[in-house]
Amino acid sequence: MFDSDKVVLTGIKPTGMPHIGNYVGALKPMIELSQTHKTYMFIADLHSLNTIHDANTIRENTYAMAATMVAGGLNLNNAVLFRQSDIVPVYQLATLLMNVTPKGLMNRAHSYKAAVDRNAAAGLDTDAGVNMGLYTYPILMAADILLYGADIVPVGADQKQHVEFARDIAGYFNNAYGDVFRLPEPVIGRDNGLIPGLDGRKMSKSYDNTIAIFAPENELKRKIMRIITDSKTPDEPKNPDESTIFQLYKHFATDSEIAEFREMFLRGGMGYGTAKTRLFDRVNSVLGTPRSEYERLMQNRAELDAILADGAARARVVADKTIARVKRAMLGLN
Ligand code: TRP
Repeated sequence: MFDSDKVVLTGIKPTGMPHIGNYVGALKPMIELSQTHKTYMFIADLHSLNTIHDANTIRENTYAMAATMVAGGLNLNNAVLFRQSDIVPVYQLATLLMNVTPKGLMNRAHSYKAAVDRNAAAGLDTDAGVNMGLYTYPILMAADILLYGADIVPVGADQKQHVEFARDIAGYFNNAYGDVFRLPEPVIGRDNGLIPGLDGRKMSKSYDNTIAIFAPENELKRKIMRIITDSKTPDEPKNPDESTIFQLYKHFATDSEIAEFREMFLRGGMGYGTAKTRLFDRVNSVLGTPRSEYERLMQNRAELDAILADGAARARVVADKTIARVKRAMLGLN
């Protein structure tokens, strides 16, 4: 784990209620870190604007994501939970950072390059459908990271380059204007790759094989019962390491429960129906209480607003100081 004085920051795009893969891969580690570390956690609504042009969707998804974090046990004493768009200095810093960011760096961004390649393959203009929100996405992300003086940025592998860009941009800035920004470091841990979905492939919205983390009990049960298995009979020994049921169970059980379940697979005598019921019971008992809390929060928007307002107030204290230093350095203004 990181030194306790390190500032940890991450942003999560408002995708609505996350699925178990997102939760185990990205949210749960942040919730755990928040027990011991100062953490900044924001819902990156501005970053969703380049693809989602529907305000209601963004607002509702933001609430769902915030409620998930709180219901999941984010420690709000250490964690500053806020909505990205609530902090005015982040827009300001993004504009200011444009001027030390080489255009060539943006040309090399994976997500932009992927769009260009898709267009080229389709015989379209290479920039077709690319808005400046997508093109400058890494600059806004650098602003997020540098504004709060983050040391450690836990992200999925797909975001590593963006954090490296933030570090590069901080370096360009510091070279030109002196030592203003701390250099952030990406930590790749947020990965859903290991969490299988109902069909055994990685759990992902694009495969339509997900289980929403706080799905109502009957939906959770229905989905778990639909998990695809091989056709071994109840009597036959089974391989836990190739079973989606066992792989999911591991994330919700204690070491001794996991060992016992593994034994039951290897020994034979347990049918997949029984194994699924055991998985359901376990997941349902771990998620039952946070699920009720999630549902309660979603019915109490004023409470979520208050939590986000408190987070924004705490985030602003740091953001205001940073933006003042940047304006002093770049514009000679106090
Ligand atoms: N781009 C990130 C993602 O898609 C979300 C994000 C926005 C972020 N700003 C950030 C992550 C700053 C880490 C730090 O997942």
